[in-house]
Amino acid sequence: MSLILGIETSCDETGASVWDTKNGIRSNIIFSQIYLHKDHGGVIPEIASRSHLEKISFIIQKALTAAGIDRADIDVIAVTNKPGLSGSLLIGVSFAKALAWALQKPLIGIDHLEGHIFSSFLEHSVPFPHICLTASGGHTALYKVHNFGDFELLGETLDDAAGEAFDKVAKMVGLGYPGGPIIEQYARKVDFQDFCNYPRSLPKSFDFSFSGLKTAVLYDLVKKNLYNLEQKILNSAITDEDKQKVASSLLVCIKDIFLQKISLAVTQNPEIKAVTFVGGVACNKFIKQSLAEFCSNNGIKFFTPSAQYCTDNGAMIAFVGGYKTEQSRFSNYELDIFE
Ligand code: KG4
Ligand code: ZN
Repeated sequence: MSLILGIETSCDETGASVWDTKNGIRSNIIFSQIYLHKDHGGVIPEIASRSHLEKISFIIQKALTAAGIDRADIDVIAVTNKPGLSGSLLIGVSFAKALAWALQKPLIGIDHLEGHIFSSFLEHSVPFPHICLTASGGHTALYKVHNFGDFELLGETLDDAAGEAFDKVAKMVGLGYPGGPIIEQYARKVDFQDFCNYPRSLPKSFDFSFSGLKTAVLYDLVKKNLYNLEQKILNSAITDEDKQKVASSLLVCIKDIFLQKISLAVTQNPEIKAVTFVGGVACNKFIKQSLAEFCSNNGIKFFTPSAQYCTDNGAMIAFVGGYKTEQSRFSNYELDIFE
């Protein structure tokens, strides 16, 4: 049995967790900076790194206390070193190096996306091979996962991430940040109907494109005289009902795009045993339910982490650190960060 400390600071969440390779999650502490970035409508890198610096020591101590262990009990320190905001990554990696050196314990740099890909394993035993759809504010990609640490990229976004599309459209229609949860809330009020029929991009490819979707929403609003393109402001005549229609149509469109990619992946890989849906956008109950129904109709298992493991967290980093420890894939003190 090993106790892995997982540290996550790639974007706007300071996360620390203790993963027990025999008994599972011992603790998972997350400090979300959303309130610091809210008024800016997106993450401000300088504010993010300063906040990580302020909170990291406290969050790690909290994770150790909640796990009922002492610093000296840690066997391995796993830390996100890519990809992400460089200033934010530097805080986590520098802290992890210092801790590893002080305790004389091994250090492992973890790819944040690999963390998301295996986040379903924190609570479930997922069979291989499976298809993993990762959708967050920074990334959207489809993978075929063969084994622990062995996965293949099938396709990814060519421009914006799915979460970014939710965030940007929410900002455009004045719904606040982060957009995903508010869009879902608004869409529910009109029963997830499709009013605007926005374009479903790249239907025959595993790649995604969401920047065109944002533009399609904008021009549809302009056409309906609900947005002034010259002044870049909403028309004051826009109603809450108009916003519900935009939110619902956007959500249905993104759900359709996801379903279409998964359907294509399942058809082309008949040996796959399951589908997983991970990342911040996987908090969306409507999309989760649609994907679960598709899998059930096709005799495939479906897994998605609970919300606290969908958004950025240290537990998924600690989990990957766990199997890398077994594979003896450690890092040295020259561990660098990559954006
Ligand atoms: O994984 P995450 O916490 O951070 C990144 O790595 O980006 O994901 C945050 C993203 C945001 O874009 C947010 O709008 C989206 O996840 N999100 C949602 C929902 N909850 C969060 N998107 C759709 N529906 C939701 N319920
Ligand atoms: Zn993430």
